[in-house]
Order: sequence, then structure tokens, then C-alpha cells
Amino acid sequence: MTMGGHQIMKIYKTANYYEMSRKAANIISAQVILYPRSVLGLATGSTPVGVYEQLIRWYDKGDIDFSQVHTINLDEYCGVPGESVQSYCRFMQRHFLSKVNIKPAHAHIPDGMTTDVDAECRRYDALIEALGGIDLQLLGIGHNGHIGFNEPGAAFEKMTHCVALKDSTRRANARFFDSHMDVPEKAVTVGIRQIMWSKQILLIASGKEKQDILHQALHGPVTPQVPASILQMHPRLTVVYSE
Ligand code: GLP
Repeated sequence: MTMGGHQIMKIYKTANYYEMSRKAANIISAQVILYPRSVLGLATGSTPVGVYEQLIRWYDKGDIDFSQVHTINLDEYCGVPGESVQSYCRFMQRHFLSKVNIKPAHAHIPDGMTTDVDAECRRYDALIEALGGIDLQLLGIGHNGHIGFNEPGAAFEKMTHCVALKDSTRRANARFFDSHMDVPEKAVTVGIRQIMWSKQILLIASGKEKQDILHQALHGPVTPQVPASILQMHPRLTVVYSE
């Protein structure tokens, strides 16, 4: 984790969700064009969907080749089968992975159905390390400032681990389930330590309801109560947002 000095934070405010998505997709495609063997850290949630759509469009035009790219997804619910529409595994297939030429063996996501969560977390840590770390990590931000599923109060030094989701997070994500009660109580997430080890971070946020937490994260005190606030200490953080 780089603490102190030499942080370069670039903040781009864009006109709307489409422009945010295009700008973020441009940054990702530049990474892949310059470094075809990049390891991309990917995120779920509604926010990155437009970024994936844009990348798919450029892939279809022949402008980007993902054949050597590896992807590491941030997180997965515990106890939701990979084929279920609510799993992040299926989400990634539907919104991105099945539509571009990323090799299935190169696309990684934690296994939320494992019977040995600790072993799965250590496997994921080892995988990230074996790939040489993440070159570019795409991040959304939760309403309470979470990144991945690192909820407020989470220790900044954690590696991949199992988390108990906050009720506010379960309510925010209830729209993908039949009811708030159906949202899993636990998830496996890459830790903040690994997020901070990424060589470059791209944080995206869109909508009025995200502006306050985004402002706190970027300009407020660095505190585990706002997990995204640690990103201020990252040497290469790019923020792309729209109101
Ligand atoms: C989930 C994901 C996060 C994501 C957050 C915000 O909890 N684990 O990675 O950033 O939701 O989602 P949305 O973009 O839908 O607001």
C-alpha cells in the first residue's frame, strides 16, 4: 500500500451516464491496447454496465482484442449458484464476458458456493499474486462508501475474505432479488489491501444519490468508516463520474 507522497488523482466530471461510461471504457481500452496481457480487476453493480456495453461495441468493431487479458472480479455472494441470475458470475457472463474474446480460463471470480470459504479466499489471493497483481482495477462505490464488498469498518489491510453484508447494502441490492430478505447475508470479496496494490484504479460513479458519498470518499478524512476514502492514498487513481 503506498502511503504518503506521489499520489496522482485525476477527476473527470462527465455530462451524463453515457459519457461517463465512454470515458471509463476509453481508459480501459487504452490499457488493453497498450498492454494486451493486462490483468483487469472488474466490478459488478449497475454503474459499470454502460462501460461493458461500450467495450463490447469496440470489440465488435475490431478495435480491442481481449484474447490475452485476464480478469479478476472483486466479489461474489455466498450461497448463490453461479448459474443463478443473481450471482455475480452470471452477471459478468451476461454483461461482458460472453460477448468478448476473453478466454473462459482467464476470467476469474470468487466461488461463493464453496464449502471451505477460507480455502477459497487463500486460492483467490494466490491467483492474484500469480498473475502479478491487477494492472487496472475498475471500481464502483456503494451508497455507504463500500468498494467491492468491503463494508464500513473493514480493516484496510485485509486480503480476500468473507464479509457479513450491512443491511443498507442488502437493501440497495434488493432490486436484483425478489425481496430484501432474499439478498444473501454474506459475500466473498477481494480486500482493500489488494485493491490498493492495483497499479491503477478507475473509480466510476453516477447519479445524484452517489455525489455525497463520492465527495466524502475523495475529499473527506481517510477512514475505514468510508472504505473508498483509502483510494486518496493510491498513486494512480482516476475518477470518472456524472451527476
Ligand atoms: C455492489 C458491489 C459493488 C458496487 C456496489 C454499487 O454492492 N459489490 O462492487 O460498487 O454494489 O453498485 P451500483 O453500481 O449498482 O450502485
